Amino acid sequence: RKKVTIQSLHKQRASGIPITVMTAYDFPTARACDTHGVDITLVGDSLAQVCLGYDSTTRLTLPEMIHHCRAVARGTAAPFLVADMPFGSYFEGPKETMAAAVRMLQEGHVEGVKIEGGIEIVDSVRALTRIGIPVMAHVGLMPQRHTALSGYRVQGRTAQGAREILQAALALEDAGAFSMVLEAIPHELGAYITSRLKIPTIGIGAGPGTSGQVLVYDDVMATWLGHKAKFVRRFADVKGEVKKGITSYVDAVKDGSFPSVAEESYHMDPEQFNQFL
Ligand code: KIV
Ligand code: NA
Repeated sequence: RKKVTIQSLHKQRASGIPITVMTAYDFPTARACDTHGVDITLVGDSLAQVCLGYDSTTRLTLPEMIHHCRAVARGTAAPFLVADMPFGSYFEGPKETMAAAVRMLQEGHVEGVKIEGGIEIVDSVRALTRIGIPVMAHVGLMPQRHTALSGYRVQGRTAQGAREILQAALALEDAGAFSMVLEAIPHELGAYITSRLKIPTIGIGAGPGTSGQVLVYDDVMATWLGHKAKFVRRFADVKGEVKKGITSYVDAVKDGSFPSVAEESYHMDPEQFNQFL
């Protein structure tokens, strides 16, 4: 596969070929994304919930994120590799943001960072892009702010709310973001913002009118059946396969059918065995 670059992503948008983004938190998933045609692999901070068992992305620390980035990077060749800046790693302004992002590139081996936020992070986004760190912006529903938002709710449903998201999107593009995630907004707004931007938009719950789509690996694969957001489609049933695999294994050990002597055991030369006895 050809290496995905910012330039190839912009070309993809221009030719109307949807950009595919999926999350990965470990080496085997990164290999699968690479092998099966994902354009951008995202080490999402959703790893806090689906991988580490935290109740919110706000629990995830920078060192934890970097640890997972390294594993994903080892399995990524062709896809463009982006990771979320964890909650609390970019709030003190451009200097702190740059220091954290540099660590994500140097220690985490990712190619770019994603940051949730609007007008209030524009200076930080500009500072990163100026020193050559690609930034994927993230507007609409920002899960790191779920407590302040009173839950994971659709954003931009009112004229005023939609206007605020559009203004943020335009300012973040102007600050140099190479792409932008639009999360949980009406599909009309997703298509409109996409038409107003030059950079590719990546939707999640933003309708089909964006330049690409992103989903969380565990939602795509149904690795576990927690809350399913309206925008999630399950494309596989890994939970069912896991159940089948583990229960069959446990049953086979208990009833003595695993391992078999003929197929699944090592043999000793009878003469050697007699000498041994
Ligand atoms: O953390 C994540 O997985 C994300 C994507 C769903 C956009 O931010
Ligand atoms: Na995220």
